[in-house]
This record gives sequence, C-alpha cells and structure tokens, in this order.
Amino acid sequence: TELSKIRNFSIIAHIDHGKSTLADRLIQRTGGLSEREMSAQVLDNMDIEKERGITIKAQTVRLEWKGHVLNLMDTPGHVDFAYEVSRSLAACEGALLVVDAAQGVEAQTLANVYQSIEHDHEIVPVINKIDLPAAEPEKVRKEIEDVIGLDASGAVLASAKSGIGIEEILDAIVERIPAPRGDATAPLKAMLVDSWYDPYLGVVILVRVIDGTLKKGQQVTFMQAGTQHLVDRVGCFRPKIEQLADLGPGEIGFITAQIKDVAQARVGDTLTDAKRPAAEALPGFKEVQPVVFCGLFPVDANDFEKLRESISKLRLNDASFSFEMETSAALGFGFRCGFLGLLHLEIIQERLTREYDLDLITTAPSVVYEIELTHDGGMIELHNPADMPDPNKIAMISEPWIEATIYVPDEYLGSILKLCQDRRGIQKNLTYVGGRAQVTYELPLNEVVFDFYDRLKSISRGYASFDYHQIGYREGDLVKMSILVNNEPVDALSMIVHRGTAETRGRGMCERLKDLIPRHMFKIPIQAAIGGKVIARETIAALRKDVTAKCYGGDATRKRKLLEKQKEGKKRMREYGSVSIPQEAFIAALRMG
Ligand code: GTP
Repeated sequence: TELSKIRNFSIIAHIDHGKSTLADRLIQRTGGLSEREMSAQVLDNMDIEKERGITIKAQTVRLEWKGHVLNLMDTPGHVDFAYEVSRSLAACEGALLVVDAAQGVEAQTLANVYQSIEHDHEIVPVINKIDLPAAEPEKVRKEIEDVIGLDASGAVLASAKSGIGIEEILDAIVERIPAPRGDATAPLKAMLVDSWYDPYLGVVILVRVIDGTLKKGQQVTFMQAGTQHLVDRVGCFRPKIEQLADLGPGEIGFITAQIKDVAQARVGDTLTDAKRPAAEALPGFKEVQPVVFCGLFPVDANDFEKLRESISKLRLNDASFSFEMETSAALGFGFRCGFLGLLHLEIIQERLTREYDLDLITTAPSVVYEIELTHDGGMIELHNPADMPDPNKIAMISEPWIEATIYVPDEYLGSILKLCQDRRGIQKNLTYVGGRAQVTYELPLNEVVFDFYDRLKSISRGYASFDYHQIGYREGDLVKMSILVNNEPVDALSMIVHRGTAETRGRGMCERLKDLIPRHMFKIPIQAAIGGKVIARETIAALRKDVTAKCYGGDATRKRKLLEKQKEGKKRMREYGSVSIPQEAFIAALRMG
C-alpha cells in the first residue's frame, strides 16, 4: 500500500466508555465481518480480559475505508504492561480518544492521553453514547478542552451502540491522522510490537514496518536478540487472518518464522534484512524483566506435575514471566515465579486456578533485593525472603525504587498524599492539570507490590490513576520478618520489611491471621518476629467442644452437606504441624488494610 493511503491509530478510552463496542462497529462498517460474526465482541477474546475489562495481548485489525488502509492497534490497558503500551503507541500516528457522553473525562484516560501526546499523535476526540438520556455532549466537549487541553471543536458525536457517527469517525481518521513516513528503498527496519503463541501458526509476531519491505521467504535478523529467522508467512488480520506477499513502509501486520518460543521475539526488537541490514536498531528497546516474585505451590502435593505443565503452557504465550522450581519446608514442591507487577501476578494466578483448575497457595510477593555480603563475599540478588542470609553476613541491602505519577481529583489528594507518606514515599512534584492534581513520588517498590494500587483506587473511589517506572536501587534498613503459627515459622509468610514499619506490619499480619485461621481444639499463638525477637503476638482461642458436637446432630442431608463442605475445606487447607491454615490466608494476610 502507498504510504499516503495508510493510517495507523489506537483507541484511548476509560474502562466502559465503549472502546470494544466502537472497535467492533468500525470493523463491521468497513466490511471486515458479517452481522452474524459480530455477535461476540472480537477484540477482547480472552475470558479474563473480558471479565476484568483489560486487554492483555495487543491485537490489531486492518480496515479498508474509501481507498485507505486503516490499522487499528489495540493496546493493553494496565501499568504492568506499560512497555508494551509504549511500543504499540510508537507504531501509530494517531489515536481516537473515546469519552462517555454521560460520564465525562476520567482520570485514567488522562495518563493515556498524555502518553499518546508524547508520541506526537494526532488525537481525534469521540464523544460516545450520545444516545443515552443522561448524555451531555457539550459539557463533555468543554471538559476535554479544559481538563486535557485538546481542541474538541471537531469532536465526533457518536453512539457505538446505535451506530451513530461511525462513518464520521472513519472519515476523521483518514482526514486528520497523518500518514506514516518511511523509505521504501532503505534497508528493512521493522519494529516488533507484540508476539504470542498460536497453536496452529506457532509464534506470531506483530510488526510495524518503518523502512524497506518485509517479504515472505526473506531471511531476517532480530537485531537485539542477535538471531536470524526465515519468514514463512506475512499477513494481516481483518480480523480474520489474510496472507500477503509483503509489508511495506508504514504497514502493520504479522509474520511467522518457525519460532518456537515467544522469548525469542521480544517486544521492541528491530527486524532487518539479513543480506542488507540496517546500520542501527530502532531506539527505545528495553529488556523487560520480572520485578515481583512469589512462590506458587499446589494445595494438593499431587498436583505438582500438573502445575509444572500448566505454567509451561502459560509461559508459551508470555515470555515476561519466569519460573523455576522451589522447595519450601512447609509447602513442599512448587515454583518461584517472576512477574512484571502485581496485576500480572494476579492474572497468571487466576488463569492457573480457572483455566487449569489448580488450587494454589501464593506466598508473599517480593521484589528483588541486592545484598552486599561482608568479608568481600560479593553481591547476591535475593528473590525469596526465605533465602535471606544471616544478618551478620550482610554488609548492605538495597531495594528497588520507582517514580510514580498519580493523577487524582483534588478532593482525594490529601488521602493519597498520606498513603504515599505511609509507604515511605518522597514527594517530588505537585501540579494541577485542569481540576486534577498530578503528584510525583519516589517510592520503594516493596511498599507498592502488596496492595498500593487497591488502596489508591479505594481511597479515591476509582478516580486516581497511577503510572510508574523503576529508578534504580537504594540502600534500605531492611529486615526479614518471620511469622510463627503455633511456634512454628511459616516460611511462605515471611517477608522483607523496613525496620521502621516492621512492627505495624507485624501486628497487622497477626491480627489478620487470627481472623483467617479457624479455631482448633487448642489455643494457637501467632507471632511476628525479627531474628529471635517477637514484635507482635495474637492468640486464637481454643474451640469449645460442644460446638462441634451440636453440628453433627440433625438430619442425614444436612450431615452429608456438612461433610462435603468439610472435605472441600480440607482441600483448601494446609497443615502446619497440627494447625490448618486456609489457602486464602496467605494472600489475604498480606493486604495491609
Ligand atoms: P472495557 O473492554 O471494559 O475496557 O470497556 P470498553 O471501553 O471496551 O467498553 P465496551 O465497549 O465494553 O462498552 C461498555 C458498555 O457500554 C457496554 O455495556 C456497551 O454496550 C455500552 N456502550 C458502548 N457504547 C455505547 C453507546 O454508544 N451507547 C450506549 N448506550 N451504550 C454503549
């Protein structure tokens, strides 16, 4: 396709403002799919994505409109996938900003818009859901101008649901979003935007060609990986797969090259012609590395092999998480896994539970610490609190820090500042954008991995948005806190904490465990300790005998139900010496309240 006839764009929208519905409409109007095929929303094709309203894997669709080729690039919607988002945006020249005509601009949209502006995108505002009785398009138009600072005089009024404004949107894409630039005669340079595993095609690679031409049968070099592969398929999604002979400058499409492992096709890599390579790779490549680690153990030890197989399958599609075998005194065999962030962890955990039907115990998430040993013992990376060396062998511990940007409506600012302060945050900046505050904080990642995001959302009633990047390691006064249940240390609950917050943290853990562990026939002490020193303590009182006695009376069905329930309960419990700890206790105990 001629450069001047290509438009590459993404859609920015707050959750529920109608991104998927609009994407479906655009596909339908341009003839990609029949009415019947449209019955299911096509862009979000994974169950979990649907339920959580987030897109995990970028998908892209090629549309044809009035002699132009329009590539709609879907982007993942969460901070854990910030790098993937940045590459998707780098592959586009413009974006549709979809705002709900009844809800108006929401904070989360703001961060995405700024990212899009940073990529020099032409942004076309779309005011959606104008069919709603509560729609106030003029008010929203003004909000887009005042809050975001975009000219919204040309905003398209639309209803993705009723199909109003769809052609205007397509026309606006053609008229307002600039065509890509590129040099067809230069050596091939294509950006690897995304990759995933397809059971039929193997590893599929989504690319945006910058210069030159990518052809079937071509030998290409992956410049960052330093590998070569023979391209065996070139094509695009409409959204159904269509094979093409080649992709020219400005075009977005996919290739396959008999690659077995997604880890070989890293987002941000540059593809070039092996015979006539480009002088240098595209800028902005970043090696994504897991930053949050936790142990995953099967509740039933017999499920270990099943867990290994399931994790290996998931990994086929997601090279950004890592795993290796781990053994725990209390939990037996399992895996130490690394993730991009807490949400990423939750997604993997949920998929293992739901798609692979596994009952899992997740241990306390931990960041990667750098420990300098005494007596020139060198430097070690600590991925697991259980492996913490003896304190007198430690010369210095460093922890990763992040710079976080939070957008929040003024009324919630006070509580957000307090939250950051409580988490050892250092305020760097505070400005106002429209009616919203933008605060920048430096925070230890360790304080963010547990429940920072949840707290941020609940404090601000969902209005605060949060974005972060790592800024390196800093020394910290960090200690290992152990949790003892009935005087036995539970290794899966031990964590690295800052000395200054250890007591509060320890007390909170003990209090929560007291509520989470059911009563037994005997008294159970729960303690938090640093070294040999107990810093917090709770006691679970013993069960009164007559309570159980009473339960076992009654009619047969009730009894059976009770027994079944017990069996079910057993399955989800873990024995520690003589104490049973429910599976939920492990993750729930870590929420800091
Ligand atoms: P996520 O996939 O959760 O990010 O949401 P989304 O932004 O993709 O929104 P989605 O397209 O799933 O739409 C959210 C809800 O709004 C759905 O119930 C849609 O049916 C509804 N909706 C979308 N567009 C319109 C519209 O123009 N008018 C009305 N009344 N409802 C709409």
